[in-house]
Amino acid sequence: MKYNHKNFGFSLNSKIPLDNFLEKALYEPKIGYYNNRFPFGKDGDFVTSPIISNLFSEILAIWIISVWEKFEKPKIFNLVELGPGDGSLMNILTQTFKRFPEFNKSVNIFLYEKSSLLIKIQKKRIENKHIKWIKNYNSIKKGPVIFFGNEFFDAIPIKQFTVNNKIFLEKCFSINNKGLKETYKKASLSDVSLIKSFNILNKQNFVEYPKLGFKELNKILKKISALSGGVLLIDYGYLKPFNRNTLQTVMKNKKVKMENLNNYIGKVDITYLVNFGLLKEFFEKKNFKVKNIVTQKFFLETMGIIERAKIIEKNMNDDQKKDLFLRLRRLLHKDSMGKLFKVIFAYNCKKNNFLGFN
Ligand SMILES: C[S@@+](CC[C@H](N)C(=O)[O-])C[C@H]1O[C@@H](n2cnc3c(N)ncnc32)[C@H](O)[C@@H]1O
Repeated sequence: MKYNHKNFGFSLNSKIPLDNFLEKALYEPKIGYYNNRFPFGKDGDFVTSPIISNLFSEILAIWIISVWEKFEKPKIFNLVELGPGDGSLMNILTQTFKRFPEFNKSVNIFLYEKSSLLIKIQKKRIENKHIKWIKNYNSIKKGPVIFFGNEFFDAIPIKQFTVNNKIFLEKCFSINNKGLKETYKKASLSDVSLIKSFNILNKQNFVEYPKLGFKELNKILKKISALSGGVLLIDYGYLKPFNRNTLQTVMKNKKVKMENLNNYIGKVDITYLVNFGLLKEFFEKKNFKVKNIVTQKFFLETMGIIERAKIIEKNMNDDQKKDLFLRLRRLLHKDSMGKLFKVIFAYNCKKNNFLGFN
C-alpha cells in the first residue's frame, strides 16, 4: 500500500512527537512495518542472534534453567518472552527444555507480542500446545517469573530532545502535502522533570529518552515485585550517553537515510541504540538489583557456548563445521555482535550471583 498520512492517522501540519510517530510507522495495524512485512533473515531486512545460530538459543535455555535452580526449583516457574519475532528463539528453547524433564514440567511459557502478523508466524513455528500468547501479565498469578527479550527494548520507540541553555526541545515530525518534515516543539514540563531525575542524562545537550520502553518495563517490574523473579534484556547499545542521535533505519540488511523516510514509512525498521547505563539507573531507582552489564560475548562464553560448539561439531562434516564457527564468530567477535550487544539482568530477590555475569 502506498504511504498516505491519513492511513497512519497523522493529521496535516500538526507536530507529532518522534515516539508517537514511530509507534504508528512500526506498529499501526495492517500498514505499520511489523504488521505488513516479514522483517527477519537474509531475505528480510535484518538478522538477529537466534536466527544466526541455534547455539544462542540453547545457551539462553541453559541460563534460564540455571535461574530456576537458583530459585530452588519451584514447581511453578513462569517464563515470558518479550517480542518473540519469528519464534526462532522460543522454538529452540522449548526443544532444549524437553531434555530437562523436571524443569519442563514446572515451566509455564508466555509470549508477549504486539504484531498480529508475527503472532501468526510464531504459532506456525513453535510446536508446543502449552504456550500462551498474552497482551498483559494478568494471567501470571503464582510462582517466580522471568521475563527476557532479545532486541525487544530497541524496538520500542524513543523520544529525543535537544537542550539549549537549559531549554528542552522535543523532536517531532510534521506532515504537509509534500511529505514529512523534522521539526521541534517545547518539551512538556513532566517529560523534562522525568529526564532530570536521571543522573546519567544530566549535562547532555542531546537526550534520547525511552518513555514508552519504561512504561513497558514498569508493568514488568510490578509483576516481578508481586511474584519475585527478574528481567533479562539483550540489545545493541552503549554504557554512557554520547550526545548523539542513535536512530537507525534498516531495509534489506542495509541502512536507509532518515531523510528518505518519506518514501519508506511502513517499509523500514527504525531502531536505536539502547542506553544501558540509563536502564541500570532506572532499575536501581525501582529497588531492583543489577550486578553487571556484560557484553554478549562475555555472557555467551561464560555460559559455555564454545564448549557446546565443540561437542556438536563432532557429528558434522567440514562444511557444516565451517558454517557453525562462522556463525559463532558473528555472535562473539568484537567487530560483529560480541561487544556492541550487551546483556543486563535486573532482579528483586535475595539471591545473587546469577550465572553469566561474573
Ligand atoms: C527486533 S524484533 C526482535 C525479535 C526477536 N526477539 C529476535 O531476536 O529475533 C522486536 C520484536 O518485539 C516486538 N515488540 C516491539 N514492541 C513491543 C511491545 N510493546 N509489546 C510486545 N511486542 C513488541 C516486535 O513486534 C518484534 O517481535
